[in-house]
Amino acid sequence: MGRIADECGARLGRPLEVLDLGGGTGGVAVPLAEAGHHVTVVDPSPDALASLGRRASEAGIVDRITAVQGDGDTLGAVLAGRRVDLACCHGTLEFVDDPAATLRAVAEALEEGGVLSLLVSGRLSVVFAKAIAGEFGQARAALVDPSGRWGNTDPLPRRFDVEQLETLLADAGFTDVRVRGTNILGHLVPASLVDSEADRVALAELDELLVSGPGREFLRTLGNALHVVARRG
Ligand SMILES: C[S@@+](CC[C@H](N)C(=O)[O-])C[C@H]1O[C@@H](n2cnc3c(N)ncnc32)[C@H](O)[C@@H]1O
Repeated sequence: MGRIADECGARLGRPLEVLDLGGGTGGVAVPLAEAGHHVTVVDPSPDALASLGRRASEAGIVDRITAVQGDGDTLGAVLAGRRVDLACCHGTLEFVDDPAATLRAVAEALEEGGVLSLLVSGRLSVVFAKAIAGEFGQARAALVDPSGRWGNTDPLPRRFDVEQLETLLADAGFTDVRVRGTNILGHLVPASLVDSEADRVALAELDELLVSGPGREFLRTLGNALHVVARRG
C-alpha cells in the first residue's frame, strides 16, 4: 500500500486524500496517516472504529484520520462532494451486499484518474486448499457456488475470480485494471513447514517468481488474495 501511495503522492506533489472503505481498526489507514496523508475511514463497525481511534491517538495522528460509521451506500453523504486521490478497499468487498454498487460508489468518490487499491479473497485458492486437505466436497462447493463459498459454515460471504473482478471494475468505470495474485503457494504449504522468517521470505519470493515468468501469468488466479490496482477512467 505504501508504494502505491508513494507513487500517487509523487505524481501529485502533495499528501493524498485517501478513502479507506471497510478500513476497520486502521491496518492500512494508520501507516498512511503516519506517512503524512489524510485518510477517511468508513466502516459500519463501531468497535473497529473505536480501536482505530485508540491506535490513531497512540500514534499521534488523530488530525490525519477521519473515522465515520457507514458503508458504500453512505459514501456520498460522508464525503459531501469531496473527491479522493486514492481509495482502498481491502478485505471488504467480500462482506458488502452488492459488490457492483459498492465499486460504483467508490469510483464516484475518486477524482478522475484517481487510484483504487482493492484486495479480495480469491476463489480458486480455497478450492486447491480444501482438496489438498482432503475436503473434496467443500472444494467442489467452493468451485461451483456462485459466491465461492465452501459451505454454510464458511466465514466468508463471498470470494472472487479474476475475470469476474475485471468485469465488475470495468462496469464501475475503472481502467488500467491490473490484478495480481498474492500468497499463491504460502496458502497451500502447511504452517508447520514455515517456521522461520527466512522460510516466509523464501515463499514470498517464490510467489513473485511464479507469476513473473513468461507464460505463467495465469497462476495469479490461484492467489489466496487478489490485489487490484486500477484507475478511475
Ligand atoms: C476483514 S476486515 C478488513 C479490515 C481492513 N480493511 C484491513 O485490511 O485490515 C473487513 C471490514 O469490512 C467492514 N465491513 C463489513 N461490511 C461492510 C460494508 N457493507 N461496507 C463497508 N465495510 C464493511 C467490517 O466492519 C470490517 O472492518
